[in-house]
Amino acid sequence: MSAPHAPVWLAHIEQLADPGSLGLDPGGTGQDTLMLVRRGSDVFAYLDACPHLGGTPMAWRKNAYLNGDGSRIVCHAHGALFDIATGECLRGPCLGQRLTPLQTVVAQDGRLGVYLPHSPSP
Ligand code: FES
Repeated sequence: MSAPHAPVWLAHIEQLADPGSLGLDPGGTGQDTLMLVRRGSDVFAYLDACPHLGGTPMAWRKNAYLNGDGSRIVCHAHGALFDIATGECLRGPCLGQRLTPLQTVVAQDGRLGVYLPHSPSP
């Protein structure tokens, strides 16, 4: 992944429970294309695309990317479980594969920025 120049500010940390997740559609496609996942003071971003079957969207309803106790990211299509911090599939049909991570930044005022793979260069 090339190093994008600047983050796109997409949310505020107060929009996320702890643990919690949020789906976003920064490209205006009409469907969420990335997820933010909060665990404590850490926020992780991944493409909303399961590695099992051709990038299948993973939430079963809006913003629902975590399992019941909030300890793992889950793909609701076939139940794959992913580590929140690494995106590695720990259980399920894509064992050992990973979600596609996006670099994030949390500003001092709580804004959440994501370095999108297609951010325009300066
Ligand atoms: S599409 Fe995600 S587990 Fe099958």
